[in-house]
Amino acid sequence: MQEHQLIDRYKRHLNYLRISITDRCNLRCMYCNPRLPRQKLLHKEVLRYEEILRIARLSVSFGINKIRITGGEPLARKGCCNFLEHLAAIDGLKDISLTTNGVLLKQHINRIASAGVKRLNISLDTLNPEKYQQITGHDVFKQVWEGIEIALQHGFNPIKLNVVVINGVNNDDLTQLAELSFKYPFHIRFIELMPIGKTTAPAIRPLLVAEIKKKIETLGDLIPIARGTNDGPAARYRFKDSMGEIGFISPVSNHFCKACNRLRLTADGHILTCLLSNISEDIKTPIRLGLLDNDLKSVFLNAVARKPFQHPEKLSPLAQPEQMVSIGG
Ligand code: 5AD
Ligand code: SF4
Repeated sequence: MQEHQLIDRYKRHLNYLRISITDRCNLRCMYCNPRLPRQKLLHKEVLRYEEILRIARLSVSFGINKIRITGGEPLARKGCCNFLEHLAAIDGLKDISLTTNGVLLKQHINRIASAGVKRLNISLDTLNPEKYQQITGHDVFKQVWEGIEIALQHGFNPIKLNVVVINGVNNDDLTQLAELSFKYPFHIRFIELMPIGKTTAPAIRPLLVAEIKKKIETLGDLIPIARGTNDGPAARYRFKDSMGEIGFISPVSNHFCKACNRLRLTADGHILTCLLSNISEDIKTPIRLGLLDNDLKSVFLNAVARKPFQHPEKLSPLAQPEQMVSIGG
């Protein structure tokens, strides 16, 4: 195991890389990839799998030990399972997880499991099929739910269900989603909607965690769970006698920059140091110019050196991605 080399100016150890393998998605969630014109990446602009694997291997040799694959929708990119198998074979990589909307889960679950992915995050903002269609633009709730049940049977642990709270749309669905944690070992995570890029979500203020938590507490007392060292930004709770957990993620009301351990690799080959800043390093061009590993290492270290302490309170329009789908949440 190599010595950890990705430490930023604020002494944060960056050990977590989120890799977006595509900017395309088979759903059109209103807060992420709405039905509005968007400039999609051209095929040649997207990193090839072998380029991503090279960057992943390098990053692991510098101290990354946790990788999450995101999109767009990662399973919508051809060859994703084969890619996951190669990724899992990287020595020193302890933890591979996948964020998916679940639409293609059923058809790929065997290979995702055999590749060694243990942890899944699945987006699910409602249990009501019509509302699901309203939010995502597609009538596929049943398919997604089947995918979730099959993932459960395959023993994925944990399965996190991501609920983006869309004020004016799914306010009344939250308790029903939280109730799932009594019967299933799911981690239900309520996420404040980040007003990023073009969206068709109602133009009203986002519901904040304090308000969301109040709603969920009508089901029973929430018992706090002590945070592990490898925990993400969720505040974790459980109900008495429940099988699963409830988590709250508050990117709006309480940003967690101080403990941020992340870097992102975008589908078009930039290392992005913060979801909400445009500080990034192009790693695709140096790779395609044939640079050696040592020089690519400088690209990584430059990105780390420029990671901001936190994102600005008010985002400049320039720092905003056109739509969330292009960076993978
Ligand atoms: N605000 C909060 N979370 C978002 N996601 C996507 N767009 C947003 C947004 N505007 C998250 C969702 C989804 C994951 C891919 O990214 O949780 O599950
Ligand atoms: Fe696709 Fe996920 Fe974005 Fe929905 S939230 S549009 S499923 S990437």
